[in-house]
Amino acid sequence: MASNDLKKYKLGMIGLGTMGRNLLLNMADKGFSVTGYDKDQKMIAKLEEEGKEHNLEGFGDIEKFIDSLQTPRTLILLVPAGPIVDSVIAELKPLLSKGDIIIDSGNSHFTDTNRRVDELEKDGLHFFGMGISGGEEGARFGPSMMPGGDKQAYNVVKEVFDAVAAKVGTDPCVTYIGPGASGHFVKMVHNGIEYAIMELLAEAYGILKNGLGYSNQDIYKVFKKWNEGRLQSFLLEITAEIFLVKDTETESDLLDVIKDEARSKGTGKWTSEVSMELQLPIPTINEAVSNRDLSKFKKLRVSLEEGFGKKDTKIDVTVAELEDAFYFSMISAYAQGLHLLAQASKEYQYDLKLDEIAKIWRGGCIIRATFLADIYKAYGKDNSLEHLFADAGIQEIIKGTLAGTRRTVSACINSGLGIPAFASTLTYFDTISTGRMPSNLIQAQRDFFGAHTFERIDKDGVFHADWNKLS
Ligand code: 6PG
Repeated sequence: MASNDLKKYKLGMIGLGTMGRNLLLNMADKGFSVTGYDKDQKMIAKLEEEGKEHNLEGFGDIEKFIDSLQTPRTLILLVPAGPIVDSVIAELKPLLSKGDIIIDSGNSHFTDTNRRVDELEKDGLHFFGMGISGGEEGARFGPSMMPGGDKQAYNVVKEVFDAVAAKVGTDPCVTYIGPGASGHFVKMVHNGIEYAIMELLAEAYGILKNGLGYSNQDIYKVFKKWNEGRLQSFLLEITAEIFLVKDTETESDLLDVIKDEARSKGTGKWTSEVSMELQLPIPTINEAVSNRDLSKFKKLRVSLEEGFGKKDTKIDVTVAELEDAFYFSMISAYAQGLHLLAQASKEYQYDLKLDEIAKIWRGGCIIRATFLADIYKAYGKDNSLEHLFADAGIQEIIKGTLAGTRRTVSACINSGLGIPAFASTLTYFDTISTGRMPSNLIQAQRDFFGAHTFERIDKDGVFHADWNKLS
């Protein structure tokens, strides 16, 4: 550090929206000298107001902002993912020097991050993709952070990240994920799992409401009770609370006046796309993505309900059986996400430590859950575990949930209660735990019409049969 750097700031934030401001305030709370930049004067004023105890300074002039930072400079970008990231980088580049570090903390697509890492490397700049999870509250008081990029550059900022991240005991919910775009990749899969668990909770709500006839108040009690046991998680906790909230404009529960059409920003879809690319099935996550999309066909759904008639979806399952189904499916959603991470690690040479990833997901992030301790333990024993289902401890847990899961899924299917995520999760399990699948027939069909050849179980080599003549 140059001597005149001593009065300068350690770290600068670009983008002083709620997330950027909150993360900066979190850093200032931990004693770091930090500053921020935003084109919008209102955001600077908000930062200075909210950070007045820390004397936080905001800049509207990018050159002055860059000049206010110690070298090598560390810049965190918290701007909307997409082209804005590229335009900010273009604006910054002429002002930066070799060795400076840019950390993109938005939900950028990992392929964009790859491109940016390569482009900036040519100028001697380190580019980091860092997923941050936990929303506004997390940014302010402790998020889970997934940084990927150059390891030496990471060491420059490690102390800041360790200080601001959420803690489980004394363990910070941040670790060096790996090279290149691995941080953004891991955050994307985190979001895929987030979509799956949200969908499972929505389906459990549908079962309790339309299958068992429970009121919102009853559902609150069920979810609250579940959250006191093995299903404990952030998403279950906030979901339970939703059932208590009243609409301020009507007498109704707020949930009842919300349209049944779910939106998304795309990270779940990216996870599904990559899983297809890597040929690594994640059906629970895929169903969660598809069902958000299906929900948008409201008019069609209403007219088809008229056409086919409203179903009597009353079912006879116990809340304990549904709890088993939820636990089983939640475990499977994590298992699929981690399976995808293991495959990506091989394919993209990320060298991911799945135990470390489970460890930093235990606090601060949206998918934090008590069960992550079991995942951490499983991968801690064997970080090269091919699939979470292969761990003996997890197998015991799953065995205990299967009877209730089968009862729940079959009751819903028999009554016409749509449960795409629960149903596909169970059938995924049944397939992945089957030694001989009927896929030999697909090979025979391919060879029949296209001479695509097949392999035999009794000898090595590739074979073709003259199916027309043999039949
Ligand atoms: C997090 C979240 C967050 C995400 C929102 C909205 O980890 O804090 O994943 O990054 O942007 O949950 O995502 P969708 O709009 O796609 O539902």
